Amino acid sequence: MHILSSVLTLPEALSTPVGAEVYRGLTSTPKSLAPWLFYDDAGSRLFEEITRLPEYYLTRTERGILARYADEILECAGYRPVTIIELGAGTAAKTGLLLRAAVDRQGAVDYMPIDVSRSALAAAKEHIEADIPGVRVAARIADYTKGIGEIPAPGTRRMVLYIGSSIGNFEPEDAIKVLCEVRQRLAPGDLLLLGVDHVKDRRTLLRAYNDAAGVTEAFNKNMLVRMNRELGASFNPRLFRHRAIWNADYSRMEIYLKSLITQRVNIPALDLEVQFAEGESIHTENSYKFTAESISSIVECAGFSITQSWTDECEWFGVYLAVRK
Ligand code: AVI
Repeated sequence: MHILSSVLTLPEALSTPVGAEVYRGLTSTPKSLAPWLFYDDAGSRLFEEITRLPEYYLTRTERGILARYADEILECAGYRPVTIIELGAGTAAKTGLLLRAAVDRQGAVDYMPIDVSRSALAAAKEHIEADIPGVRVAARIADYTKGIGEIPAPGTRRMVLYIGSSIGNFEPEDAIKVLCEVRQRLAPGDLLLLGVDHVKDRRTLLRAYNDAAGVTEAFNKNMLVRMNRELGASFNPRLFRHRAIWNADYSRMEIYLKSLITQRVNIPALDLEVQFAEGESIHTENSYKFTAESISSIVECAGFSITQSWTDECEWFGVYLAVRK
């Protein structure tokens, strides 16, 4: 009877991905929350805003590389036409550069953007089909970290795009797992195009994650707002501070929400009260930065081999083409 009643009273929210992750992260020591929690509708809009900030060099630098070298990148695919697949495509803001180069080269191209957001994929399909005749868009709603499924590509070579430095938000062993999953769905000779942020001077990195307008702060604190809305939590975002530091030993930016005072927060949907000491932090994100050697070792471990790379004048960002072995 006792066991049965405790099973029945288990908070329902615990069986949802958000509830389970918040429970795990806020009952752990030290406290942490997975970065995928950033991306509800408001968080996705804030991230779009981040990509346009003067301090956030990543997006515009990668776009510059793709704009300059898209034809050369496509040429590396050889004589066979390519089918382009994009992991975590979102609204596919930069992908047009590569798709246009593919259409110029082969007349038409099949493009499969994969993302969890139906609305982002709908926006991607609409602007790509309107702007680049010759692209056939077949969107797939899925969480690519859990596998990408079969990708039919008769008579073509698959080129999987994983751009935007998204791989940097995984721990290296998880990044390898994601790439191994992708590899399973590819044939020998298929291609992977990775966009990764490079290690650089500390000042530039710190500025990129501590922008003057406070957009990154709002993006980070949106996790608290989200827990309030979805789980009925009582976080006061003003009682937490956004903190972004460079950890040179691990080659990563680390993002935290630091409690300004000793406080208790209730999360009714999880039947949980969380205690914070003054100065205690929730670790919300790592953003790894790579060298040519460190990205090559991850890619090799996953069964790919880098054949070409492109960078900008300051070598702040790198686009790497790898072939599936
Ligand atoms: C999505 N990702 C590549 C971003 C990054 O730079 O790691 C997320 C981000 N976090 C804070 N600012 C941007």
